[in-house]
Amino acid sequence: MIQKPKGTYDIFGTNSGKILYLRKLITALMDKYNYDYVQTPIFESSELFHRGVGETTDIVTKETYDFTDRGNRNLTLRPEGTAGLVRCFIENKLYVESKPLKAWYFGSMFRYERPQSGRNREFTQFGVEAFGSNDPMLDAEIISIVVNFFKMLGLKGIKVNINTLGDSESRKMYRKALLDYFKPHLNELCSDCQTRYEKNPLRILDCKVDSKNEVIENAPKMEDYLNQTSLDHFSKVKEYLKTMGIEYIVNPKLVRGLDYYTHTVFEVEADIKDFGSQNVLGAGGRYDNLVETIGGPSTPGVGFAIGIERLLLALEAENIDITEGKKLDAYAFSMSTNAKSYMLSLVNNLRMNGFNVDMDYLERNMKNNFKHADKLKAKFIIIIGDDEVTNKIITVKNNETKEEFKVKLENIVEFLDEKLGDE
Ligand code: HAM
Repeated sequence: MIQKPKGTYDIFGTNSGKILYLRKLITALMDKYNYDYVQTPIFESSELFHRGVGETTDIVTKETYDFTDRGNRNLTLRPEGTAGLVRCFIENKLYVESKPLKAWYFGSMFRYERPQSGRNREFTQFGVEAFGSNDPMLDAEIISIVVNFFKMLGLKGIKVNINTLGDSESRKMYRKALLDYFKPHLNELCSDCQTRYEKNPLRILDCKVDSKNEVIENAPKMEDYLNQTSLDHFSKVKEYLKTMGIEYIVNPKLVRGLDYYTHTVFEVEADIKDFGSQNVLGAGGRYDNLVETIGGPSTPGVGFAIGIERLLLALEAENIDITEGKKLDAYAFSMSTNAKSYMLSLVNNLRMNGFNVDMDYLERNMKNNFKHADKLKAKFIIIIGDDEVTNKIITVKNNETKEEFKVKLENIVEFLDEKLGDE
């Protein structure tokens, strides 16, 4: 039997309903904040991620799905959405439009990670990016969207961690301090960190292998190297979060696994007992140099992405049921082959008039048709026999009250409208 690739999953049954419902909620939420939906390709030129996400990140060095196509192009399945949105922003010259440009996306991302609960090789992100303003109010808005979305879903156990990585000048000073500090301790670090020392020493602080290493614990802290501009930006973000009543914890160790961040970074964790190690539900931050790094005009940006699978796990852990329950207005069946095309035409007409209708495709007997209508949770059952065809009067049964009606064919739309409107 052919099976799905490791780290992927099929969505069906209640889970597919949940995903569709979340998308619906997200679409409505994004209207409230005036963000536009943007869709970019699932694969991009590999260079985009090397330049954008960063040569020293695990995501690029260990986790990308790279391939060459039949035209020998080097392509990569997107591991995240920000780089693709930035490419789209530059390529389509969206920077000439009103600023800030506020966009959202929803789709599959791919990372070759060791699969476990909440960590897949293909997973879904809902993300948001805003380009063109360096106002800390936008950082606060971005964080507030994540928090408000979770609140809207009824999720209680969440913890917001924030930090600042400062601007380029502060980063340069901090980088130098880290290089000086780690130099005499290089042989106490893991081999990955020795490479990070050369390319991006900040990433040493985020090392999973060395997380309890005292050398890393005692490393210089970013907060001691922030210039005034960076300090001011961060204190404004915190002030705006307070203004909106959003609770947060400043975590100076938060550096994030992607290279493009400047100033604010944040992670929203599930704070739920026994949730498991993959507890970061959503994360993001500001990236004021990324558009330029990828070849566009200097444009600040800020955004986040939420892992939909992890969000579903968190909702389940808190016993929050977001299944919407499909609503079938009517189920139709015919009593004879003769009445079949009559049924098809009627069902087609009802669907075109906005009703959710299904019908019998298996020529079941009456008893099984009633059973099937129950299974589909149909509110009304429409029965069409030869008699009905001749007289143009159909039998409609309310499947809850079991009341039966004879309805003239030409009145069926009004009849269902009225009856369903009563509910
Ligand atoms: P990220 O932290 O790499 O950030 O991913 C964001 C979220 O995607 C994570 O918090 C997690 O919920 C989910 N996620 C990541 N990897 C996996 C996985 N293997 N399986 C399941 N879920 C996963 C970004 O991707 C940035 N682009 C976010 C951003 C947008 N920053 C600024 N704008």
